[in-house]
Amino acid sequence: MPTENRPAAVIVLAAGGGTRMKSATPKVLHELCGRPLVGHVVAAARALEPRELAVVVGHGREQVAAYLAEAEPAVRAVVQEEQHGTGHATRIAMEALGAEQELDGTVLVVTGDAPLLTPATLRALLAAHEGAGRAVTVLSAIVPDPAGYGRIVREDGAVVAIVEQRDADAAQAEITEINSGLFAFDAKVLREALGRVRRDNSQGEEYLTDVLGIAVQDGLAVGAHVVEDWHETLGVNDRVQLAEMRRLLNRRINEHWMREGVSVIDPATTFIDVQVTLERDAVLHPNTQLHGTTVIGEGAEVGPNCTLTDTIVGTGAVVVNTTSEGAEIGPEATVGPYTYLRPGTRLGLRAKAGGFVEMKNAELGEGSKVPHLSYVGDTRIGVGCNLGAGTITANYDGVAKHRTEIGDYVFVGSNSVLIAPVKLEDGAFVAAGSAVNSAVGPGELAVARGRQRNIAGYIERKRPGSKAAQAAALAREAGRTGSAEEAPGD
Ligand code: UD1
Ligand code: CA
Repeated sequence: MPTENRPAAVIVLAAGGGTRMKSATPKVLHELCGRPLVGHVVAAARALEPRELAVVVGHGREQVAAYLAEAEPAVRAVVQEEQHGTGHATRIAMEALGAEQELDGTVLVVTGDAPLLTPATLRALLAAHEGAGRAVTVLSAIVPDPAGYGRIVREDGAVVAIVEQRDADAAQAEITEINSGLFAFDAKVLREALGRVRRDNSQGEEYLTDVLGIAVQDGLAVGAHVVEDWHETLGVNDRVQLAEMRRLLNRRINEHWMREGVSVIDPATTFIDVQVTLERDAVLHPNTQLHGTTVIGEGAEVGPNCTLTDTIVGTGAVVVNTTSEGAEIGPEATVGPYTYLRPGTRLGLRAKAGGFVEMKNAELGEGSKVPHLSYVGDTRIGVGCNLGAGTITANYDGVAKHRTEIGDYVFVGSNSVLIAPVKLEDGAFVAAGSAVNSAVGPGELAVARGRQRNIAGYIERKRPGSKAAQAAALAREAGRTGSAEEAPGD
C-alpha cells in the first residue's frame, strides 16, 4: 500500500571505491540507459518527494558532485573524506542533514549502485515500516546465491541481526535471505544508534547493519520487508554486472513502451534511454538506439540501424539507417538510408533527406528534397525545392562558416556546388554541374560551368583501329551525327 507520508530524508550511499570496475570513472558515474548508476537511484528516491535528499560522496567526489550539481540540483552532496563503512557514511549524512534542525520521521538509506530500484519498492518499504510502527525495517531479498551479502538472522521468525558474510558462521552462511542494503529508520533511533556503532568487526568499519542489532537490544520494533523482485536490489561491482544490469533495465524500458502501444521488433537490439518518449503505433526496427531526450511521434518508423540522440521525429516519419543528433524531423518526412543529421537540422512536413546525405544547421522546408549524396550546412531551404544528387553547400572557406539561402521551388541540378555566402531566390534554377558563387534571381537559370565543346574525329586520330574507333565509324556510317555545339540544357 502506498503511504501518504513523505520520508524525512533519503540518504544515498555512494562514496565507495568500486575498485573492481578498474576505471578512471567513479563507479556510480558509469552509465546505463542514459543515466549514471547514481542518477537512477536518485531518480527513484526523488519520486517519493523526500524533504531532504542527500548523496554521500567520497571516491571521485569532484566528479560525482559535479554530476549531481548539474543533473540533480536539489540533491545535497555530503562528503565522506575517508570511507569507514556504511554506518560511518550514514552518520556523516545525518549530521549534515541535521545541522540546522534534527530530522524527525522516517529516513530511507539506499545504496548508490543499484540502478534497477523502483519508486514502487521504496514506497512499499516505507509503507511496511510506517504501517508496522517499527524503529528499523530492512529491505531483504531471498536470493539464489547469497555469497557476499549480509545475512538476515531470524529467531522464531523475528529479525534479530544482520551478519556480514565474512563474519558469518557456517549455519548463518546457509541463509538465503539477504540484506539488500536498503533500510527505513526512525530518524531519532538511527541518530542515537549510529553514535553507538563500533568498528570491532573483521573490516574495522562502522556497519550500518549494526543499527538493527542495537535496536533489537533496546527492545525496539525491528523487521524485514522482503522485496518482490530481488533483481531490483542488485548492485553493480564490475563491468560484467554493469552489462547485465543494462540488459535488464533496457528490457524493462522496452516492455514499458510496448505496453504503451509501441512496436519493438527486436527488444534485444533496441536500446531506449530513460528520458526518451514515444507515441503509440511508433515502430522500432532492429539495431535502433534512442538516446537523450529523443521523441518519436505517433506512427513513425525508426530503424533498422538508427542512432538518434536528442532528436524529434514527427508523426508518421520514416527514418532508416540514420545517425542523428539534435535534429528535428517533421511529420511524414523521410530520412535515410546512410544519412547523418547533425545539430540544428530541421526537416519540414514531408521533406526528404535521402541516401548518403549529411546536414548540419540546415532547414529544409515542406516537401523539399535532398535525395542523394549531398552535404547541406548552414542553410535555409524553402518549400518545394529539389537539390539534385551530389549538391554540396561549400559553407567553409577555411576560416569562417557562411550561409546559403534558398527560396521556394528552387531546383538545383546534380553535382552543383553552392559557394556560400550565396542566395538562390524563389523559382531559381541551377544547371547541373554548376559552381554557384553569386546570387541567382527569381526564376533565373544559372549556368556556372565550362561550355561543352565537341572535337570531331578525335578517337580515330588518337586510337586508330581501337574498338572505340571502329564503333564510332560504324555509328557514323549508320547516319548518327555529333551533338549540337551547345550541350542540352544550356
Ligand atoms: C553492504 C551491507 C551488506 C549488504 C550489501 C548489499 C554493510 C556493513 N553491509 O555490504 O549487509 O548485503 O551491502 O549490497 O552495510 N559506502 C559508502 N561509504 C563507506 C562504505 C560504503 O558510501 O564508507 C557505500 C558504497 O559506495 C556502496 C554502499 O555503501 O554504495 C555499500 O557499500 P559496500 O562496500 O558495497 O558494502 P557491502 O560490503 O557490499
Ligand atoms: Ca556492495
